[in-house]
Amino acid sequence: MAASSPLAANFAKRLQGKVALITGGASGIGESTARLFAQHGAKVVIADVQSDLGHTVSEEIRSEFGQPVSYIQCDVSKDSDVENAVKTAVSMHGKLDIMFNNAGITGKYDPSILSLQREDFKKVFDINVYGGFLGAKHAAKVMIPEKKGCILFTASIASVSYGGIPHAYTAAKHAVVGLTKNLAVELGKHGIRVNCISPAGIPTPLAAKVMGGVDLKTVQEASMATANLKGVKVEANDIAEAALYLGSEESKFVSGLNIVVDGGNSLRSSYLS
Ligand SMILES: NC(=O)c1ccc[n+]([C@@H]2O[C@H](COP(=O)([O-])OP(=O)(O)OC[C@H]3O[C@@H](n4cnc5c(N)ncnc54)[C@H](O)[C@@H]3O)[C@@H](O)[C@H]2O)c1
Repeated sequence: MAASSPLAANFAKRLQGKVALITGGASGIGESTARLFAQHGAKVVIADVQSDLGHTVSEEIRSEFGQPVSYIQCDVSKDSDVENAVKTAVSMHGKLDIMFNNAGITGKYDPSILSLQREDFKKVFDINVYGGFLGAKHAAKVMIPEKKGCILFTASIASVSYGGIPHAYTAAKHAVVGLTKNLAVELGKHGIRVNCISPAGIPTPLAAKVMGGVDLKTVQEASMATANLKGVKVEANDIAEAALYLGSEESKFVSGLNIVVDGGNSLRSSYLS
């Protein structure tokens, strides 16, 4: 088929006309996903707490792909912020097709139970779990009347492997998978699919911070060195590709899944060995 045929163009753009709201979209996995979604024809709203970066990133993506991409200030742990982000996406674009609850933090990166304090535990849950719950809740309000929609979460390899990762983060990411499956059952009757992606070792500012403030190339090299799957350069776009699949019609019969994108690392008994 000629690359210039209208059919080929349609096949190339897997999210043509869809509206996506991406939390944590100013950086890392969220930013890569915003870029890939826009490339595939989606109108994207980035919701984040990093205002300057969020505006810069959305402007960059907008001019690169000629798609509407905007930024909204939103702390996912605040009900009114998330409600406002969803309402803004709908008022700008008339609907919401994809809600990607991706914002997350690791909290203090100390795997010992003895150093885990209540405030840190609570903050990790407020952002990773309650933040995702709020995204799903406000998205469901606008998706249920439409009888369709796609809700995505970012969990982690910490949802399927154990040790070397802080307890609050591991518990929170397990909770995200539980929420995904429970919501998939409730919302399935309204035609809404709910899925989750579990990354590992992705070169982003979050991972760089965990490794003590190294640069992204160092994260990537370390990730490739410890990877089970050899010879593959891991990138944030690998997670964006999973989100693209789950957000597109190609996955129209897929719901309640936790797709682990970790180069097979979680198949081993220890992620870091
Ligand atoms: N990088 C990895 O290797 C890895 C592995 C497993 C899971 N994850 C998960 O991927 C997701 C994205 O992380 P990343 O690696 O891209 O990190 P990142 O730090 O590059 O991006 C996270 C984004 O979330 C935003 N954010 C943080 N708190 C927020 C809040 N309260 N409200 C709104 N936005 C907020 C940050 O400002 C940032 O832009 C997180 O849920 C993280 O737990 C990452």
